[in-house]
Amino acid sequence: FINHELIQNLLNHRVLTQNVARLLALSLRTKLSPSVRAAAVNMSTLLVNRPQYSWLRELGLGEDNDGVYNGCWGGQGQVVTSYCPANNEPIARVRQATMAEYEETVQKAQDAWKVWADVPAPKRGEIVRQIGDALRGKIKALGSLVSLEMGKIYVEGVGEVQEYVDVCDYAVGLSRMIGGPILPSERPGHALIEQWNPVGLVGIITAFNFPVAVYGWNNAIALICGNVCLWKGAPTTPLTSVAVTRIVAEVLERNHLPGAICSMTCGGADIGTAMAKDERVGLLSFTGSTQVGKQVAMMVQERFGRQLLELGGNNAIIVFEDADLNLVVPSAVFASVGTAGQRCTTTRRLMLHESVHDDVVERIAKAYKQIRIGDPWDPNTLYGPLHTKQAVQQYLAAIDQAKQQGGTLVCGGKVMDRPGNYVEPTIITGLPHDAPIVHTETFVPILYVLKFKTEDEAFAWNNEVKQGLSSSIFTKDMGRVFRWLGPKGSDCGIVNVNIPTSGAEIGGAFGGEKHTGGGRESGSDSWKQYMRRSTCTINYSKDLPLAQGIKFE
Ligand code: UN1
Repeated sequence: FINHELIQNLLNHRVLTQNVARLLALSLRTKLSPSVRAAAVNMSTLLVNRPQYSWLRELGLGEDNDGVYNGCWGGQGQVVTSYCPANNEPIARVRQATMAEYEETVQKAQDAWKVWADVPAPKRGEIVRQIGDALRGKIKALGSLVSLEMGKIYVEGVGEVQEYVDVCDYAVGLSRMIGGPILPSERPGHALIEQWNPVGLVGIITAFNFPVAVYGWNNAIALICGNVCLWKGAPTTPLTSVAVTRIVAEVLERNHLPGAICSMTCGGADIGTAMAKDERVGLLSFTGSTQVGKQVAMMVQERFGRQLLELGGNNAIIVFEDADLNLVVPSAVFASVGTAGQRCTTTRRLMLHESVHDDVVERIAKAYKQIRIGDPWDPNTLYGPLHTKQAVQQYLAAIDQAKQQGGTLVCGGKVMDRPGNYVEPTIITGLPHDAPIVHTETFVPILYVLKFKTEDEAFAWNNEVKQGLSSSIFTKDMGRVFRWLGPKGSDCGIVNVNIPTSGAEIGGAFGGEKHTGGGRESGSDSWKQYMRRSTCTINYSKDLPLAQGIKFE
């Protein structure tokens, strides 16, 4: 008695579970028209249609989602399906931007800038305050989406929405504080002042691993500075980009401001390249691998554009003989296993003084075995899947190389026998400090443990890698602490004592040196990266004295 109409009805009412729909589609193969069959399979397999994921609708997400926003929603380009890393099932689809839509969006963003630049900074801060509040209201749903789409555990998903909220609060205060000094002029009747102006359009390209927070750092600060934003998130986390942009857009629209102030063009390398080459993009903020970052940097430099790069890290924790091991063990575990090793601030090298080496390895290996592995959205879980299947291959390749280069597996090393991209968190000892694999950032949960004898040696090993993002020592020796912070200490952008390498607060400037790219985002005076500085000399006298006492008469 099942006819097409009935099936279509069932589909429309979204009551078919995946299996029922599959069965129907299969058993009625001969009777169903291809289009109805395709619709049955498509609809039924998307997670967005299952009752337990109905909260996705709260974020405005459906089966097919527009991946372009510039005041209007659109998306005429390639359709991408977003998959859940915990089971590799499709969540929903996003229609990316075409080049024509990119062009239209940049033009609309430029028009929007004309309005936004005239809004006084504290009033811009008020809009950012409302964005922060809107995010607070959706923090659980958005955190859950991050967990579902990126694969990090729920508390970390919520945590990165919290980072966006925090940086909004920070930016609200900043909106009444940014400015330049009035400097003493050497000429009578002259004023020497610094004026800071927005760069205009800030292009923001973010990575899969922090699909909310990194956009948030850039967006909140860029906005109060008087810039408009154009965001391209990672192609594998498009639903998060769409959901965040929906929240932000609602605030702009409610305030009768042009939506293009916070534009979004979902896409791949084509859109990224267009942004890098586009002279209208006043600043390009790029977060991602060193390899891609280098290509982006060359394209931006080619046109003498400004760039803000947040690239790879190869972060070390150094544990001295006097360290409090009760701090070391949880710190090392959090920083190496957290986010399944997919933070740019993840601890990849654990340098242990020879006197504590065996003890710490034993304690950390024990802690690794107790890590609760499971669905990332289960509140009990501490460790979820890798983001993609390719990452699983990179994990296996790195373990092979580490073994070939002399490493010993203490624990982990295997892909887990369960759906999704799960691999065992891994500890490897016995490698030389300069083994090629130790000097390579592999974005997976593999921790290389190195044994050292002296402070000089440990500091040198910390600095000998190409990357320069984050670093930590564990010690009670105050002299050593200040040597670590000083010119011959860590060469990284983040230099910690008795805390892990990851988990930075938004109040400081975030970023690193060398192959990490040199950019600084978020707190401190990072706002300066989003503005251009004019040195202004104003003569309010009736004379024309020249600087350096030059007479030109
Ligand atoms: C990143 O991995 O790209 O310090 C950013 C941390 C986070 C940000 C990480 N607040 O680990």
